[in-house]
Amino acid sequence: MDRAALPGLPRLCVLWATLLALFPCGVHGNWMWLGIASFGVPEKLGCANLPLSSRQKELCKRKPYLLPSIREGARLGIQECKSQFKHERWNCQVSSPAVSIFAPSVAAPPAASPGAAPLFGYELSSGTKETAFIYAVMAAGLVHSVTRSCSAGNMTECSCDTNLQNGGSATEGWHWGGCSDDIQYGMWFSRRFLDVPTRNTTGKDGKLLAMNLHNNEAGRQAVAKLMSVDCRCHGVSGSCAVKTCWKTMSSFEKIGHFLKEKYENSVQLSDKVKRKMRRREKDPRKIAVRKDDLLYINKSPNYCVEDRKLGIPGTQGRECNRTSEGADGCNLLCCGRGYNTHVVRHVERCECKFVWCCYVRCRRCESMADVHTCK
Ligand SMILES: *[C@@H]1O[C@H](CO)[C@@H](O)[C@H](O)[C@H]1NC(C)=O
Ligand SMILES: *[C@@H]1O[C@H](CO)[C@@H](O)[C@H](O)[C@H]1NC(C)=O
Ligand SMILES: *[C@@H]1O[C@H](CO)[C@@H](O)[C@H](O)[C@H]1NC(C)=O
Repeated sequence: MDRAALPGLPRLCVLWATLLALFPCGVHGNWMWLGIASFGVPEKLGCANLPLSSRQKELCKRKPYLLPSIREGARLGIQECKSQFKHERWNCQVSSPAVSIFAPSVAAPPAASPGAAPLFGYELSSGTKETAFIYAVMAAGLVHSVTRSCSAGNMTECSCDTNLQNGGSATEGWHWGGCSDDIQYGMWFSRRFLDVPTRNTTGKDGKLLAMNLHNNEAGRQAVAKLMSVDCRCHGVSGSCAVKTCWKTMSSFEKIGHFLKEKYENSVQLSDKVKRKMRRREKDPRKIAVRKDDLLYINKSPNYCVEDRKLGIPGTQGRECNRTSEGADGCNLLCCGRGYNTHVVRHVERCECKFVWCCYVRCRRCESMADVHTCK
């Protein structure tokens, strides 16, 4: 548990945890920030009114100019998670059991209501591969958005990578120029904002905390690992006699794809590895897992059937692909329950012609398509 965050936890979280007795509030208190993605202009509300843990509020008060980046980081992470998993049984649905349980009765302040409901619900504290992906992609999202802001010149504490200026290789015909992304500040901020300080990784919650901390860092390492170099040519008529190069982060889509592969090859913490993890601070050579591996503790549920208590929606009603052999195929996605077929009518503009002068004339074309949804 994040002891430091406990006193400041909103009533909602405590109430929610008491009723469901499922999730350690320390974990959720630290993750309410994802709700910021749903605020248009979080700066207007101020740090105190945003769904943040007390530790995050302190950091926010010291650096309020980072709020747009925090919001953008949450948006990036959530969007990428949904995109990477859109064809799978667990489709990174951002929902929570608390929404339906509390929406009518809890009189939360208006500022806190959209974000105070823990996003993701079950997956945030289940210690599964899905938990691992969420933590990694969110930590990476923060690095990405903060670094973008640094490179845009919006920050006094960070900027483009100045170490690279004036360097390069004249003999090879290139030099550093433009703005190289410097992820150091973004990495620092993501750590400060997300990593619950812990010196105690014994006990059940401790294991989960150690796992989450590792996966946060794995997400950040993915951003670092996928840094690349872009160049632009100069010289007479594209001769490329001289090149200007700069370091740049990969698109967040690429980072999401990389993390999805890490998710598919994620490592279950056996008791043996767990012991090694615990020894980590004493003897760093004993780490059995790589820094950028995703780790999980518990096997995932199959996500086939709805579980309201855990906030698992199940796959009933999801659209599936009758001819696909993959995860989006009706067989796998519908967990063998079969599917319904509806005919859907599409209307579009077609056979467009340019008419002199000056407009385009089109016909309306109708087509029918079969849509399959899981039973
Ligand atoms: C930088 O600041 C400007 C003006 O406030 C804003 O429009 C822009 O979106 C910011 N860019 C980034 C990457 O944060
Ligand atoms: C660590 O946590 C365990 C179980 O939660 C507790 O019994 C122990 O006293 C804690 N140790 C320290 C140093 O806080
Ligand atoms: C369904 O899957 C097949 C085979 O993977 C693919 O070619 C097709 O584009 C998919 N259809 C849709 C509507 O996604």
